[in-house]
Amino acid sequence: METRFRRSDLIPNGEDKPMADDISLRPELPVEERRGFLKKLLALLAWIAAYLGPVGAAVRAFFAPARQKGQATGQFTRVAPLDSLPEDGTPKKFPILAQRRDAWTVYPNEPIGQVFLRRLGKEKVVAFQVKCPHMGCAISYVEEKQGDEIVKKFYCPCHKANFDLDGRRTDPVSESPRDMDTLDEVKIEDGFVYVRFKNFRTGTPTKEEEI
Ligand code: FES
Repeated sequence: METRFRRSDLIPNGEDKPMADDISLRPELPVEERRGFLKKLLALLAWIAAYLGPVGAAVRAFFAPARQKGQATGQFTRVAPLDSLPEDGTPKKFPILAQRRDAWTVYPNEPIGQVFLRRLGKEKVVAFQVKCPHMGCAISYVEEKQGDEIVKKFYCPCHKANFDLDGRRTDPVSESPRDMDTLDEVKIEDGFVYVRFKNFRTGTPTKEEEI
């Protein structure tokens, strides 16, 4: 015959005390305590957000110079073989290809500008920025027939500014506020022409490097 016990039969003196490890019998947190806990959690999250803001700005500032250097201006860039330049000083236009870094991506051979090169001797080359000092349009090299003569010159088609082959303005009143910008650091090494490429501000009477 099966014997059944009541719970009170198992506890001494018949007291119906809850056992300490009986989870179902633990009391819930009071409402005030839960509110206090939530407030503390929100305050902690606000502090983390406030702390990470300046840290993020510092990290961005740390990497910004690397990004600017990645534009590759200001470094010597190999432009063209010396032999590819006409010996009579006729200008030739070349792209400047350099490594460009944009945030986390590196582009190995990106065009970052253009230059005119003129060979003025066995080992002498001069370089000009192609960007017009007026508003930055691309200057062209043109040969113009004037009577029996062929005039060689630089010409900006945007506002019809004319320059001679040394980059000097030739119009009585020119739209360009200054002569063409020369790139003063040019070197020849192992039969190649290298130029330290720079950009300059437009619209100013003096040549100012754009950084
Ligand atoms: S942009 Fe060259 S003359 Fe205006």
